[in-house]
Order: sequence, then structure tokens, then C-alpha cells
Amino acid sequence: MRILVTGATGILGGAVIKQLLTEMPSSQIAVLTRKEGKHSEFQSKGFNAYLGDYDDIIALEKAMWDVDTVLLISAGDEGDRMQQHRNVVDAAKKTGVDCIAYTSRSLRDRKTLSNELMKEHFLTEDYIKESSLKYTIFRNALYMDSIPLFVDKQVFETGIFQPAGDGKVAYALRKEQGEAMANVLMHEKCENKTYQFSGNEACSFDDVASALTELSGKKVKYHAVETSAFETMMKERGVPEGMVKKIIDFNLDIKNGQESEVTDDLENKLGRKPTALKEGLNVLFTL
Ligand SMILES: NC(=O)c1ccc[n+]([C@@H]2O[C@H](COP(=O)([O-])OP(=O)(O)OC[C@H]3O[C@@H](n4cnc5c(N)ncnc54)[C@H](OP(=O)(O)O)[C@@H]3O)[C@@H](O)[C@H]2O)c1
Repeated sequence: MRILVTGATGILGGAVIKQLLTEMPSSQIAVLTRKEGKHSEFQSKGFNAYLGDYDDIIALEKAMWDVDTVLLISAGDEGDRMQQHRNVVDAAKKTGVDCIAYTSRSLRDRKTLSNELMKEHFLTEDYIKESSLKYTIFRNALYMDSIPLFVDKQVFETGIFQPAGDGKVAYALRKEQGEAMANVLMHEKCENKTYQFSGNEACSFDDVASALTELSGKKVKYHAVETSAFETMMKERGVPEGMVKKIIDFNLDIKNGQESEVTDDLENKLGRKPTALKEGLNVLFTL
């Protein structure tokens, strides 16, 4: 198998590559990056490295000329992400790759999502399914690694303020999702399957607060604030309006149970239990 990993310089892509290298030589792995320095670094390690952007159709086709499988790691939200994803799928189709894999999100119901960005994952899935390419979809849970972004290090003094009610999230560590994705790509046939990678339990911000309390010995309390109060708090702190909306939409989806689905796909594809919340937070907060 020869595989192209896009987003190879990212944290998720890095975890995929690390696991692929346990069984594959770098010469069978192609990578795509926009960064010249990273491109040379990959080349010096024996990868087939390509410089390119999801907006650059010629670069995409060049990177895919000799691969069977393309792993499309979803783009960030800076550009026209849907068009970028369509470009990658179209290039895969044109160059005749056997299989496209995509990093989607594990969300319960596309019809009731608040977060517009998340809807694009479902639209990308639709586009892939309509492309007639064989596919593997990885519906990844919210990264446990994102908790310190919601809840910064001052949490031990301030407590947690989020408008998520008692909504739960089936958090999983990003590196474990990457490892499991690589295992599927190396060991499973590409036959239009969807994997839902989650942790083994869904946790609320109350659970996060309890785990941080136990780990630090300092009492951390979760305050489930109303959306309007949260909005005022964020604006007073100078958080830009667009960002405030994004954070609120994330929280509303959590509150509405979008992120809480637990499956054993991740455990099965890792071959061990995924890291639980307390153990993960211990590392993420370096406690
Ligand atoms: N499940 C979750 O909780 C969660 C949370 C946040 C994000 N995500 C999604 O998961 C993706 C991967 O996560 P991550 O943590 O690995 O992100 P990351 O560390 O920021 O890496 C993003 C990767 O995407 C590549 N990329 C972005 N835009 C691109 C473009 N226009 N053309 C080519 N490459 C592009 C970057 O490549 P270069 O910079 O090298 O070109 C980089 O390697 C994110 O991009 C996002 O869509 C999921």
C-alpha cells in the first residue's frame, strides 16, 4: 500500500504517520504540506514529500499520482474549507486512487447542530459518498486535548465557566485517534465503512472539574452559566465577536448531547482501552 497523508505536519497527522512508520517504510508514505521547511524535513527522512495547498489542484494531483489511498485530514477554518475538501476528493478521483479516507467528527444529529463549521463535515462525507470512490470515514470525538483551550490553566483559581449545562462529551486523545486511524488504514479493507472514535465514557464539565480537583488537590468548581452571561464575560475580556459565537455554538452542541455518543471502535482499533479523562487531564495539565 502507498498512502498520501495530508495534514501530515499537524498533530493528528503526526500521530498517524508515527503509527504508519511502525509497519511501513517512509518511502511508501507521501505527505503534503504548505511549509517549505517541513517539506525538506520529510524529504530528508525518505518520505515522498509534496508542497501544496488544498486550493492548488495541480499540486494535489501531483501528490496523488502514485498512491492507493489518500487520507484527507480536514482543513482548518481559515479558507473555503468545503471547496478545499472538494478539491482533494476530485483530485483523488481524477488520479484514480483506490480509497479516500476522511477525518470527520462524531456528532449525533446533523439536523440540530448549532455549529456551522461542524455541518461541513457531514457535507464532505456526502461529497465523498457521491464521488463513487471507495471510502473510510473516521468520525472523531472532540479532542480531550481541547479541554485546556476551553479551560485555561487559571482554572485552579477561577473554576470553570461554560454555557454547556450538564452536556457530556465522549472525549478521546488526539494521538490515540491518529494511532487508531493508521491501524485501520494499514489493516482493514477500504469498503465504505464509518468508524466512530470516542473515549469509553462521556464526561460533563462537572466531571472535568472533579477530575481536576482530585488531581490538583485544589477545589475546582464548574459554573454552568447562561449563554447571555457567558457572552458578556467573553466580550468584557476582549474576545472577538466571531470567536465568542464559535465558543457558544460549541457549548450549545455539547449541551444538546451532540458530542456524547460512546462506541468501542477506538478501543477495538487501538487494541487497548483509550486513555480515560483523569489520566488524560493529568498529562494535558502537566499535574
Ligand atoms: N476532533 C476535534 O476535536 C478537532 C478539534 C480541532 C480541529 N479538528 C480538525 O482536525 C484537523 C486536524 O487536527 P490537528 O490537531 O492535527 O490540526 P493542526 O495541528 O492544526 O494541523 C492541521 C494540518 O492541516 C493542514 N492544512 C490545513 N489547511 C490546509 C490547506 N489549506 N492545505 C493543505 N494543508 C492544510 C496543515 O498543513 P501545513 O500547515 O503543513 O500546510 C496541518 O498539517 C483540523 O484541521 C480540524 O479540521 C478536530
